[in-house]
Amino acid sequence: MPISRRHAAQGLALGAAGLALAGCTSPLATPTPARAPTAEPSLDALARAKGLRFGSTLGSLGRSSRFHDLPYRELTARECGVLVAENETKWQALRPNPGKAYDFAAADEMFSWARARGMALRGHTLLWLEPKWLPAWVNALNFGATDGETARRVLAEHVSTTCRHFGDSIESWDVVNEAIAPETGELRRNVFSAPLGGVEQIDLCFRLARAHAPQAQLVYNDYMSWGGGNNARHRTGVLKLLTELKRLGTPVQALGIQGHIVARPQASAADATEWRRWLDEIQALDLDLLITEFDVNDKGLPADFAQRDAGVAAVARDWLDVTLAAPRLRRLLCWGLVDQHSWLHGFDPRDDQLPQRPLPYDDQRQPKLLRTAIADALRATPARSA
Ligand code: XIL
Repeated sequence: MPISRRHAAQGLALGAAGLALAGCTSPLATPTPARAPTAEPSLDALARAKGLRFGSTLGSLGRSSRFHDLPYRELTARECGVLVAENETKWQALRPNPGKAYDFAAADEMFSWARARGMALRGHTLLWLEPKWLPAWVNALNFGATDGETARRVLAEHVSTTCRHFGDSIESWDVVNEAIAPETGELRRNVFSAPLGGVEQIDLCFRLARAHAPQAQLVYNDYMSWGGGNNARHRTGVLKLLTELKRLGTPVQALGIQGHIVARPQASAADATEWRRWLDEIQALDLDLLITEFDVNDKGLPADFAQRDAGVAAVARDWLDVTLAAPRLRRLLCWGLVDQHSWLHGFDPRDDQLPQRPLPYDDQRQPKLLRTAIADALRATPARSA
């Protein structure tokens, strides 16, 4: 049975799945306006009232030049207490060419802007394990299976240089990103797998991060979510990895749940129960939780804006209610705030070629029902003790 939904109470007469979507006739109709944010506390203020913080991402490189959209970044400053760089602290961005020095300029500019506005900073990410996301020159290194020493040196140089550059300005680092392949639940392989090992390269990165960013929370970050199929295998693999890291004494302190959720297929009540149980197992390993990259992929929803926005908000509220209820969860970050700036336009376009509407604000920076859903989920979540 699908999880209930509450938008009937908002006059939308919809269940999250119930997007047989009565009542919405005109294609691309203007959605029911969400509550005006200016009359409301910010999402970070709502989060703080419960012992959490709310945040988002900004980017300044290439296509993702969100930081130079001034009204957008002011919206980010108004809503957020935490900032993470969308691409600017990744290895590829910091050192695309081993013959040149590290380039921290883009990240530094954003971070000094954020700090001046009182935002805390998250670092993302020291090792994105999949070869696709490593610098090409790293993938091309030919260590051989036995040259662990050189492999260790390459990782150590990267982690130590990056952590030392940012010093104690970063409160939380995604040390390792996406190590588990959802198709198998097994560790992905990269250029470090043969000389160092799968779990061993992860353990090494955490130990290096502990040594060079002693004050930061050290996080393993991945995109497993609720539901069956790949998500179930992904959860099993991540739990197994974290259990092994704990057994080894690896200084991992938290799991980052990316939270790139999909509006369809819709989760069932059994999916939610299983997700809750899995979150309990993670916390039982003495790990904290964060939602690090929340957005809602609306590919499975109809074109009509009102129907889509209602569907997105309903699914978000269901997922956030369950996930935010985890007692050790203290951070909720969106992967952007305004639809126009979502990474999903490039990564997973809709079949009908219409732009996705995955974020809490529309392109005119008007709040959508998703903002209301996030605000209501924060209001509803239990307070954490200090
Ligand atoms: C994405 C960025 O948003 C894109 O601009 C970039 O091209 C690819 O990476 N999981 C992560 C993030 O951990 O780093 C990804 O960010 C989105 C998925």
